[in-house]
Amino acid sequence: MYVLGISGSPRIGGNTDILLDKVLEGALAKGAKTEKVILNTLKFSPCQECENMRDDGTCIIEDDMQVLYRKVEEADAIILASPIFFGSLSAQTKMMIDRFQCLWRAKYILKKSMSGKKKKGCFISVEASERRDFFDNAKSIVKNLFVTIEAEYREELFCPGVDKKGSILMHQDVLKDAFELGERLASD
Ligand SMILES: Cc1cc2nc3c(=O)[nH]c(=O)nc-3n(C[C@H](O)[C@H](O)[C@H](O)COP(=O)(O)O)c2cc1C
Repeated sequence: MYVLGISGSPRIGGNTDILLDKVLEGALAKGAKTEKVILNTLKFSPCQECENMRDDGTCIIEDDMQVLYRKVEEADAIILASPIFFGSLSAQTKMMIDRFQCLWRAKYILKKSMSGKKKKGCFISVEASERRDFFDNAKSIVKNLFVTIEAEYREELFCPGVDKKGSILMHQDVLKDAFELGERLASD
C-alpha cells in the first residue's frame, strides 16, 4: 500500500503540513509506504491549454509535474491537503489540479482507458474562519480531480479556526482524528 500525501500549503511546518504528517503517520503505523510531496517546492507551470498530450495521457510540458504524474499513477491512496485561501484551494493546489486536464482529455475526449487501478482519495483542509461553505467549495473542486484520476472520495478532515503557524497543535482531537484516518486509509 503506497500512500501519497500532496501538500498545497506554502508554509512548511504550518497547519496543513502538520495535519498531513499526522495522517501519513497513521498510514505508516499500519505498514503503508508513505510519501509527502510539497507542491510549493516543485517547479511547474500552470496548464497552457495546448490540448496536446502523450498517448498515456500525460502532459507534454517537461517540468516537475512529470514526476508527480507517475507518483499519482502508482499511489493506492492519495491525501490532498490544502489550506483555504480566499474561500478556495491554495493557488499551488489549483495549479496542480489544472495540470490533470491531460488525463481528463484522455479519458473523456479521446476515450483512452486509464490504468484501471482504483485509488482511495482523501481531502484535508484548514482555515482561519469557521466558514463551512469554504470547505464545501474546495471539496467540490477536489472531487472533480478525484473523478479524473480515478480516486474514490473516501475520507475528509477539516479544521476551522486555525490561523497562526502551528496553531493546529492546540487541537489534539483533530490530530488524533487525522492519525486514525491514516490508519483507516492503509487498512481497508
Ligand atoms: C492568501 C491567504 C488567503 C486566506 N484566505 C482565507 C479564507 O478565505 N478563509 C479563511 O478562513 N482563512 C483564510 N486564510 C487563512 C488560512 O487558511 C489559515 O491561516 C491556515 O491555517 C493556513 O494554513 P497553513 O498553515 O497550512 O498555511 C488565508 C490565508 C492566506 C495566506
